[in-house]
Amino acid sequence: MNEACTEEEDSTQSDIEIVPAISKDIEGIATVLRESFPGKAKYYKIRSWEHESKKILRSDKGWITFIAVHQGRIVGVLAARHLKTVTPTVRIEWIAVAKSFRRRGIGKALFDHLTRWITTTFFDQQVRITLRARTDVQNFYRKLGLRCYGRGWMKKRIGGQNDELDQSGAARNGK
Ligand SMILES: CC(C)(COP(=O)(O)OP(=O)(O)OC[C@H]1O[C@@H](n2cnc3c(N)ncnc32)[C@H](O)[C@@H]1OP(=O)(O)O)[C@@H](O)C(=O)NCCC(=O)NCCS
Repeated sequence: MNEACTEEEDSTQSDIEIVPAISKDIEGIATVLRESFPGKAKYYKIRSWEHESKKILRSDKGWITFIAVHQGRIVGVLAARHLKTVTPTVRIEWIAVAKSFRRRGIGKALFDHLTRWITTTFFDQQVRITLRARTDVQNFYRKLGLRCYGRGWMKKRIGGQNDELDQSGAARNGK
């Protein structure tokens, strides 16, 4: 095992701070998204990465956006939307980690932060997290506990007082 590498990864992880994004972060967010989603912005049905970065800060439109910061530099972004469906849904629209910071637990840390935020915000309500995942990234989401439910869509249910009952029911049914 390469010990130097492991030490560097450990120090990176402990140096990461996850915070809500604000307007001064627009450029940094756009940089991470542009690098992570190559090709023309039009392909992703957006006007430009700067425009999209501004858009995902609109909490009045239901956006929930967190960034991962390493020594003052934005190295990760997670942007989701709260949809007011019967069972509240939080749909992850973008998740990206700067190339040189991947596979160090930052994507998972962003997702875990969102999960904690949902648990605090929705208290004992059940919330469904959904997203559309490319085939090559589905295993990343599987590791976070999401499962496929058709045509690239994945979901995970969190919270809710019925969780225990549901789980024992699932166990009885052998699922
Ligand atoms: C997908 C992405 C956000 C993952 O971020 P990351 O910080 O590298 O992920 P983490 O290090 O937190 O990985 C968590 C776990 O998932 C695994 N994992 C990460 N990326 C993976 C991938 N592409 N395929 C399979 N497993 C993956 C890790 O090995 C780790 O597993 P472990 O807990 O057993 O060690 C990042 O690769 C990225 O920005 N990709 C480009 C943008 C993108 O494709 N976004 C998703 C669009 S659907």
